Amino acid sequence: MKKRAIYPGTFDPITNGHLDLIKRAVRIFNEVIIAVAPSHKKKPLFTIQERLNMINLAVTGIKEAKVEAFSGLLVEYVRQRKGDAILRGLRAISDFENELQMAHMNRTLDADIETVFMMPSEEYGFITSSVIKEVALLGGAVRGLVPEAVEAALQEKFRLVKDIPE
Ligand code: COA
Repeated sequence: MKKRAIYPGTFDPITNGHLDLIKRAVRIFNEVIIAVAPSHKKKPLFTIQERLNMINLAVTGIKEAKVEAFSGLLVEYVRQRKGDAILRGLRAISDFENELQMAHMNRTLDADIETVFMMPSEEYGFITSSVIKEVALLGGAVRGLVPEAVEAALQEKFRLVKDIPE
């Protein structure tokens, strides 16, 4: 039977850590839907459409990966898309508490939906989207940490910021 994982996140922007997890997940699941949440509270740098475009470029060639936007409760979206599991990455022990809380909350909302955790490669263990944005804003190199399209998009965003007179 075909198994479909839903990999939710803000992906502002997608990093090579996320991509590493997706590549690992498609070895186990027949389909991985990368589900992009608006996450207005996080005040994302990129619009939903920009995030979707960057992810689509990054997963070109991974035929089991699909990219969609969702809003509202994750468990409702998982039910609607007939997902077999929510996929989340665990990079370090510091991720655990928050992930445990989310997994239990989601289970309380729908006892039939399992959360599956996978570990990205340790070389990406320190990356978060926020750290990437901060380094890029300050002119640091993010090559090798994000897909090429993301690197270009970050440069473009922050070039526009720098062009604004103080
Ligand atoms: N490689 C690199 N970075 C990773 C990573 C990996 N493998 N896995 C996680 N991260 C980063 C993310 O980029 C993010 O960085 P940021 O905080 O700098 O943006 C951070 O680690 C993890 O963020 P987190 O808070 O766990 O999640 P998220 O923002 O990616 O996604 C949702 C959270 C969207 C899944 C969650 O808010 C949700 O389900 N929302 C829908 C509403 C809902 O149902 N709420 C109830 C849930 S209990």
